[in-house]
Amino acid sequence: MTDTSTVLPALRVDGLAKRFTLHHQGGVELPVLEGVSLEAFRGECVALDGPSGAGKSTLLKLIYANYRATAGSIRVRRESASAEVEVTRADARTLLALRRDTIGYVSQFLRTVPRVGALDVVAEPLLVGGEADTSALREAHRKAQELLLRLRIPQRLWHVPPATFSGGEQQRINIARSFIRSWPILLLDEPTASLDADNCSTVASLIDEARARGAAVIGIFHDARVRERVATKVIDMERFQPRPGSR
Ligand SMILES: Nc1ncnc2c1ncn2[C@@H]1O[C@H](COP(=O)(O)OP(=O)(O)OP(=O)(O)O)[C@@H](O)[C@H]1O
Ligand SMILES: [Mg+2]
Repeated sequence: MTDTSTVLPALRVDGLAKRFTLHHQGGVELPVLEGVSLEAFRGECVALDGPSGAGKSTLLKLIYANYRATAGSIRVRRESASAEVEVTRADARTLLALRRDTIGYVSQFLRTVPRVGALDVVAEPLLVGGEADTSALREAHRKAQELLLRLRIPQRLWHVPPATFSGGEQQRINIARSFIRSWPILLLDEPTASLDADNCSTVASLIDEARARGAAVIGIFHDARVRERVATKVIDMERFQPRPGSR
């Protein structure tokens, strides 16, 4: 039997459009994206490029189903199922399952949990779903420590809740949390925005390692050098700007 995993894309976007309706502005319509079509295969890192306001973050949120598409389709292949999921029409249960086992999303901001230390915040994605036994807990902490070391989080902070961390420290906690799992599809919204050169280089290595494990990575990288370093394909989002007068 042919292994279809490298033949079929992990993610297919076709004719996708997004228009926001501003309810507090008398229902004004704001067209942001139109005719977005792209594919991402396992082992690829697709970079979304384009000026501020071009709809790059909006596209990641549409794929993660934080936003509802106005038109078009987003098809995702789930590891555990042979059929693709149509994200734009999936019910809540399917979306939760997708976020549990298929799509990881790194937003620019860490949602901190009060009173939970950095090490546990990073380990948590490995421990979701039921009671973890001692060996699973130990293994999750070992991986979390490895990532915290690689991302240069000083050991004195490992048991401190990240709420008071600096912007760059919080971002690195967020990155560690997302890379601790082997997501089949990983969405990265400016993961290196407030990082120094050494940490940018670590994130680039983490992306390479995720690709080598078979992840399809779709990311936004404001720094052109980072983008050139990690991307296997660059998508110019200006192609998908709505035409003047379109609604
Ligand atoms: N929830 C929302 N409601 C209304 N408009 C929105 C919403 N989210 C995004 N927009 C609008 O959509 C457009 C695209 O925003 P988006 O955040 O996707 O841009 P971006 O390409 O990620 O820009 P940047 O590089 O600055 O992060 C902007 O004009 C923004 O105001
Ligand atoms: Mg953005």
